[in-house]
Amino acid sequence: MMNGFSHHRLEGKVAIVTGGASGFGESTVRLFARHGAKVVIADVQDDLAISLCNKIVSESGNNNVIYVHCDVTQDSDMKHVVGTAVSTFGKLDIMFNNAGITGNLDFTILDSDNKNFKRVFDVNVFGSFLGAKHAAKVMIPAKRGVILFTSSVASVLAGESPHAYTMSKHAVLGLMKNLCVELGQYGIRVNCISPGSVSTPLLTNAMGLEKTMVDGIVCESAVLKEVVPTAEDVAEAALYLGSDAAKYVTGLNLVVDGGYSTTNPTYSRVIKQTFENLAKKT
Ligand SMILES: NC(=O)c1ccc[n+]([C@@H]2O[C@H](COP(=O)([O-])OP(=O)(O)OC[C@H]3O[C@@H](n4cnc5c(N)ncnc54)[C@H](O)[C@@H]3O)[C@@H](O)[C@H]2O)c1
Repeated sequence: MMNGFSHHRLEGKVAIVTGGASGFGESTVRLFARHGAKVVIADVQDDLAISLCNKIVSESGNNNVIYVHCDVTQDSDMKHVVGTAVSTFGKLDIMFNNAGITGNLDFTILDSDNKNFKRVFDVNVFGSFLGAKHAAKVMIPAKRGVILFTSSVASVLAGESPHAYTMSKHAVLGLMKNLCVELGQYGIRVNCISPGSVSTPLLTNAMGLEKTMVDGIVCESAVLKEVVPTAEDVAEAALYLGSDAAKYVTGLNLVVDGGYSTTNPTYSRVIKQTFENLAKKT
């Protein structure tokens, strides 16, 4: 025991992690399993997810991590994954709606592709909605449960992501808040995690750059120095919010961005530049 909580902070809990084959989802699956949870990985990358299950068994001996193929945009897939969690492990305690896509990196509204817009909303917003809906069906009668979403720093900071992505992540935040109010009466907690940029496959593929290059950009622009953010930092936030340590925390958008979104450095940079230019002239 440490600080009154067991080292196995999710002992006996059953969790579903959408997008659990890669990035934040993968790290969360590993961390949840290490903390004693039974975990269902819901993803569309079958080979990656199956090899993750096998790795977890051989590394930790935890046999209670399974994979269910699930496209979060499909109602029947989402229903199936929740049903499998309940039929295999007896219940559902934590639903982590984490799967998401960046979509095309079209930054101007005139360049924005309409089909891409709908696809981003389908995965990021409708997928989160379906996950929450099917989880709520089993959590309401149980009068307990935790629903988590991965939103993004783009839910609080504009201008750095494409319109469809920024809008979709604001929408996820809206869903989280609405559900927090509705499901509070059943003892169900609902929270968001909003990460800043982390060099997961999502970001490196979107940027078309090596992981080290992406880490370099993230660190160069960071407020909090001396830290290279990793997917584990996001998994730790999910562990806290999913665990009983957060039993009175609901309706929170937990921003995990090293303080990036607390400031806007443009004004000070322009002042600094102006003084440097003046100094050069004299
Ligand atoms: N990496 C970042 O910098 C960053 C920052 C803020 C928020 N996010 C968000 O974090 C979440 C996870 O992203 P990540 O960085 O770990 O990316 P990732 O690409 O490494 O992992 C995302 C996973 O979601 C799965 N997925 C995609 N579409 C799916 C679908 N329709 N059905 C089921 N699974 C699907 C993918 O197969 C993949 O395994 C996303 O919601 C993303 O928007 C990422």
